[in-house]
Amino acid sequence: MARTALRGRLVDFVGDPAESAAAVRVIDDGLLVIDDGHIVARAGYASLAHVLGPGVEVTDFSGCLLLPGLIDTHTHFPQLDVIASPASGLLDWLTRHTYPAEVRFADPAVCAEAARFFLDELAANGTTSACVLGTVHPQSVDALFAEASARGVRLIAGKCLMDRNCPPELRDEGDAGVQQSLELAERWHGKGRLAYAITPRFAASSSERQLKLAGELAGARPDLYVQSHLAESEDEVRWVRELFPQARSYLDVYDAVGLLHERSIYAHCIWLDGTDRQRFARARATAAVCPSSNLFLGSGAFDFTQAVHAGMKVTLGTDVGGGQTLSMLATMRTACDVARLKGGELRATQLFYWATRGAARALGWEDHVGTLESGAEADVVVLDPLATPLLARRSAAADSIESLLFALMVLGDDRAVRETFVAGRPSKSKRRAGFPAMSATDSARARDLSRRFMGRLKTAPGGGVIKP
Ligand code: GUN
Ligand code: ZN
Repeated sequence: MARTALRGRLVDFVGDPAESAAAVRVIDDGLLVIDDGHIVARAGYASLAHVLGPGVEVTDFSGCLLLPGLIDTHTHFPQLDVIASPASGLLDWLTRHTYPAEVRFADPAVCAEAARFFLDELAANGTTSACVLGTVHPQSVDALFAEASARGVRLIAGKCLMDRNCPPELRDEGDAGVQQSLELAERWHGKGRLAYAITPRFAASSSERQLKLAGELAGARPDLYVQSHLAESEDEVRWVRELFPQARSYLDVYDAVGLLHERSIYAHCIWLDGTDRQRFARARATAAVCPSSNLFLGSGAFDFTQAVHAGMKVTLGTDVGGGQTLSMLATMRTACDVARLKGGELRATQLFYWATRGAARALGWEDHVGTLESGAEADVVVLDPLATPLLARRSAAADSIESLLFALMVLGDDRAVRETFVAGRPSKSKRRAGFPAMSATDSARARDLSRRFMGRLKTAPGGGVIKP
């Protein structure tokens, strides 16, 4: 790839804003020089432009903010078709919408189409890295990794382990699920920017034997990640208590089998007590807080103040399809709302830190991404403060970087993402420009979907649409 350069307002973090007021670093008119997928220089435009050399193309994003690409630490690529599906709570939602949708991922063509769509959406939203759950089917993770590999996306993913309390089509047979996890890890872990996560779906859908085997695999392969759900809803916590009466707590179920360590990423972590929080922090595990999902499913409000106070590593996840959006900006805004519900306050700089350098640090990627430092991989999001009339009006009134980031987070979504660079490659405009050029299979599926959908609806007298 030829050397390129990006001009704009550079914003990143040298540390955690909770620990230092000087953690945010801004160069108002900056230049990032990118070579072979890496940032090779960063400085003020005036000091760097003249040493660029001939023939280096400078893309001018003056007026926009250039930040490290956003990192979503918990989401599900097979749940795109169940986003915005209401239910009375987590367990009802899983049973009624999610499990039936996941059954379709036995078909590799379904997996491949969803993987393409999902990665397009990540790019559209400025997300350059994610921790992703597949379905129980190994082919779902093969498809996601293959597509991510072709695009150069940094990704952690794993197949769900589940051998009870789920539909028979989604049930691992005997010990095969753990064996398949190991095979997937051998195929993909460490290949380019990909990493494997041992992924017991949640304690309620694994037998004690499966969890124990997963823990043994985690012990034998400390280079692999672990990801799962933890203490999401009160009903779920009660159920886990019945299933594992010997455990002190939900967290204890995972800890007892060796699934709680520095490379463990647990989504939600709402219903933990003080002992659990201390234990979680001591293990250096990562909490992937998913506020949009928690509000949508009525699961509860994460207590950011207590978690930070206990020393837990906090990051943010969209948790689609429980979550209502793949936008990390919208997720940050909802985190802010949830913190308020608990009587706390989150600043925009804190939230952007959690979605960039904080997540990179939590995942052990600090030397690679989450920063605009020279030497880092060139994962960059370009945010446009003028993207919508209201955002432009509010941005014009911003008198600090905190205020501008706050406005972007509250009023922005994928519309505010002008461009997303993945390892130096523009990944939003290229995909969106090519959007109408669907593959024959994709467009056939889209036509089929629309036929089936329209068949279920009647036109209302006013020209609108009503349910039959
Ligand atoms: N717990 C077990 N599976 C799931 C899932 O798919 N989504 C969420 N939000 N929670 C879960
Ligand atoms: Zn989830």
